[in-house]
Amino acid sequence: MIREIITYPNKLLKQKSTPVVDFDDKLHSLLDDMYETMISKNGIGLAAIQISIPLNVLIINLPNEDDEQTKDTLIEIINPKIIEQKGSMLYTEGCLSVPEYFDDVSRAQKIEVQYQDRDGKTISCIYEDLMAIAFQHECDHLKGELFIEKLSFLKRKKFEKDWKKKLKGKK
Ligand code: CO
Repeated sequence: MIREIITYPNKLLKQKSTPVVDFDDKLHSLLDDMYETMISKNGIGLAAIQISIPLNVLIINLPNEDDEQTKDTLIEIINPKIIEQKGSMLYTEGCLSVPEYFDDVSRAQKIEVQYQDRDGKTISCIYEDLMAIAFQHECDHLKGELFIEKLSFLKRKKFEKDWKKKLKGKK
């Protein structure tokens, strides 16, 4: 089922998510709904809080070398932890909760992570480049943070002004 994605400045996006305890059917249908919802909006990542569920759940599905997005590379990430970060990398990010806005953000280029899959199995991994960027972006959602909070003061000010104008235009 496609669910509604909440957008900035919805206050729920600031809420901290909590750990998943039960790896049950309810979690599995949440993950399935998140995938359907993300794909319907052409996204490459989604955190549960973006569909108003404050749980430590996120999904990432990067396009392959042929720029195709296929479900066999979908990664379902429950209760993620970033154990180590290395280097830095600038990347132009976007977010389904801040639609049609893109800007450069600096993040670690390489991260060591640990998380659980949909059955509760613990997975340890090292991610680099775009996968590392996406992982960090989605983990920020679980802390109640958005990528626009990483912009410089002036960029953020301009963003707020433009965003207000945009929201007004939609009313
Ligand atoms: Co996002």
